[in-house]
Amino acid sequence: MAGEVQRGLEDVVALESRICFIDGRQGRLIYRGYDIRDLAERSTFEEVAYLLWYGRLPTATQLADLRQRLAELRTLPGELVRELDALPATANPMDALRTAVSAMAIFEPQETRPGPSSIGGAQRLTAALPSILGTFVRRRAHLPPIAARPELSHAAYLVYALLDREPTELEARAIDVALILHADHDLNASTFAARVTASTLSDLYSAVTSAVGTLKGPLHGGANERVMELLGEIGTVDRAEEFVKAKLARHERVMGFGHRVYKVEDPRATILRDWSRRLGEAKGDLHYYRLLEKVVEVVHREKGLYPNVDLYSGSIYTLLGIPQDLYTPIFASSRVVGWTAHVLEEYEDLRLIRPTSLYVGPTDLAYVPVAERS
Ligand code: CMC
Repeated sequence: MAGEVQRGLEDVVALESRICFIDGRQGRLIYRGYDIRDLAERSTFEEVAYLLWYGRLPTATQLADLRQRLAELRTLPGELVRELDALPATANPMDALRTAVSAMAIFEPQETRPGPSSIGGAQRLTAALPSILGTFVRRRAHLPPIAARPELSHAAYLVYALLDREPTELEARAIDVALILHADHDLNASTFAARVTASTLSDLYSAVTSAVGTLKGPLHGGANERVMELLGEIGTVDRAEEFVKAKLARHERVMGFGHRVYKVEDPRATILRDWSRRLGEAKGDLHYYRLLEKVVEVVHREKGLYPNVDLYSGSIYTLLGIPQDLYTPIFASSRVVGWTAHVLEEYEDLRLIRPTSLYVGPTDLAYVPVAERS
């Protein structure tokens, strides 16, 4: 390998995994053997979480048990709530989330603190993320404190946590599908970061803290916020063609397009496009859907690029009234299942992840004492 550098580790196979398969040429995404289209059509987020953690679909009893367990784990330790309350209301929600996940390791009651490879920790984190976000955003929006609401599904609880209202059936299903689609994606940057941390035998909370920080970047989880900013700048469908062409002529990237692995349309974008239209029709507001369709047409014609998952998700969250800076935290609330499934897999077959670099600096410099340096 000496002398060969794969920048961005593109096409480098780093490890074996049984969790997620992406066929970038066929545009297929598989979780534990199941096609994402079947899961998005027929399953729920809790079912998919079970599948990713345990490697098989749950029975009805196993699913009911998991739902109950996640609902029970929604209540945060008092110290953590106080920690969240001490953060400035102007903090970026991803910074608040990263800080809270890190603090969870300290504030978990000693007797219930999960071991490094325990699936209990994965469930605790998954249940806690909507509560953490809800605690933080409700204070800044002057909304009442959050209640555990055990009767709500994970998707409905997330909406309630963020907006202090229950979603309609259609809204809850749209968020449920979005959570299913974001739950895992092979060795994406944040999952890789989590696995690197776990490979040092560090704990689950540290691994997820690494992952949250990595997801924050605009080339990864932050792209959907930028898509909505772009739509705001374009304004109306009749301005889209000229606006996008000018952007491409300036060699600027159009967020929500292109992908390192998919060479055709990202299957998650196909499913979310349908949900963007369905929700828009139900609310009598197809503005974003029509604008996005025009942008897709122009970007594909001009650059041959296809939409990725981030193109349509923001339009769905906007139709529900969710503030833009919460889009990436919603992504995290789903991907935490994938991160923890990968960390558990890493613990089972642990090998310290430690690549090498190609050193291109000098090696034979003569040491000059500090007093003699100019
Ligand atoms: N808009 C305009 N041009 C693009 C775009 C885009 N969105 N994506 C790629 N290109 C062009 C790029 O300029 C380059 O052109 P040229 O060869 O003429 O210089 C060519 O396509 C190859 O680009 P690349 O950056 O080498 O490709 P990559 O595999 O490193 O990029 C990517 C993958 C996702 C970073 C990139 O497509 C991008 O920046 N997209 C916009 C950000 C985005 O939507 N991110 C969400 C990704 S999906 C969710 C997730 O996994 O987190």
